[in-house]
Amino acid sequence: KNATPVSGLPLGFHGTVIHSRSLDDLEILENCIVIVGIDGKIQALQADVESDQINSIVSENGYVPDVFPVKYLKRGGFLCPGFVDTHNHAPQWAQRGVGRGISLLDWLDKVTFAHEAKFQDPEYAKHMYASCVTGLLQQGITTASYYGSHHGQATCILADVCFEKGQRALVGKCNMNRNAPDWYRDPSVSDSLRETRELIHHVQKLDPESRLVKPILTPRFAICCEPELLDGLGAIAREHPDLPIQTHFNEAKQEIEFTHQLFPEFDTEADLYQRYGLLNDRSILAHCIFLQEGEMRRIQELGCGISHCPISNTTMQDFMVAPVREYLRRGIKVGLGTDSGGGYSSSILDAMKQAFIVSNAQQMLTQGRDPALSLCEGFFLATLGGAQVCGLDDRVGNFAVGKEFDALEVHTNLGQAGVMSPVEDEDTLQVIFEKFLMTGDDRNIVKVYVSGRSVKL
Ligand code: GUN
Ligand code: FE
Repeated sequence: KNATPVSGLPLGFHGTVIHSRSLDDLEILENCIVIVGIDGKIQALQADVESDQINSIVSENGYVPDVFPVKYLKRGGFLCPGFVDTHNHAPQWAQRGVGRGISLLDWLDKVTFAHEAKFQDPEYAKHMYASCVTGLLQQGITTASYYGSHHGQATCILADVCFEKGQRALVGKCNMNRNAPDWYRDPSVSDSLRETRELIHHVQKLDPESRLVKPILTPRFAICCEPELLDGLGAIAREHPDLPIQTHFNEAKQEIEFTHQLFPEFDTEADLYQRYGLLNDRSILAHCIFLQEGEMRRIQELGCGISHCPISNTTMQDFMVAPVREYLRRGIKVGLGTDSGGGYSSSILDAMKQAFIVSNAQQMLTQGRDPALSLCEGFFLATLGGAQVCGLDDRVGNFAVGKEFDALEVHTNLGQAGVMSPVEDEDTLQVIFEKFLMTGDDRNIVKVYVSGRSVKL
């Protein structure tokens, strides 16, 4: 528990830096110097700096050049912001890859609940969550929004693990007290709410200033929550005006129909969650495949964020395409989610590639009305867009001076140690970057920093 969230040392880099300034503004800075202060924040960022100017910039920033460590990135190497996974089920880490081609509700019943039930055992939780957080950091996920299991104790352990390993995280105890087996659900509304409050207190004690870890309200979805439970969560949301909220939203036809049977008084899921006080600018809505016109308008007006999870959307029974271009056109916040383990991959690079593919399908299905995502848009969703969805864009998502240094150091020339499309002499930086996004993997991500602390094993 004595982990420090920051490195405690200043850091410097010189070389190529790539980040998004907005959805369609990708900035590639060459010969850029980056100075990270001992607080883990970006103190200076300046492009077009020749080697002989570095010392004077270092001393302008209050450091002694002779002892200040500057890392020089060679051609083919660059820094980019860490990836943000806006939707991840930590207790499904050992379940990835199992159970394709079945409906969502069958997948929950036949595969998922039995698996998540194992997190009753705190020793199992410690071991599996350590593996999960380490694995996500290895793949460059510097921020994750996690659903835990329904167990309060295991979810406190997940928060501890994120804090100790240095991952920025939103951590939620999954609320679910019905439509799940007796051996895997909250026994009552009051137990569910009590454990939620205990998690909130635990995380506030662990990280009082929310430097890294924050609690998040996590009703699994309305199917698993009685109205009194949703009411109670809405009350907690009102008591804590900075607490984020996440749920699954309009994910599958079968799910929407069942929700409507359970709550016939509401026309749409937006009506339902809004009525329970769970829809606002802190809400992260996963999937959002089938939104009605009024729901899109409401979500835009309320400032809710959407977690786009293209891998799980296309590997369950149906091939479902979320109309992301429509959401972006309306100015709704969108980020990427791996939805690991509903998604077989826990890599945001994979989620981005699948986002490109489904956006091509959507372009075709709409006869060109919804143009496919560009490379720079996909990268935005993986970084700054995700930070916006998690309510963390004032702190992370790109390299604006003053933000936390959550970054990936990418090497694209690994020789035989990787399988990325080889970089050739004539390749521009744009091409090198495209090759990394489309064919690179965690081997190319040689270092991962969160608040300046090196966190990849
Ligand atoms: N809806 C309710 N629970 C889940 C889950 O664990 N994964 C996905 N993809 N959808 C859900
Ligand atoms: Fe999910």
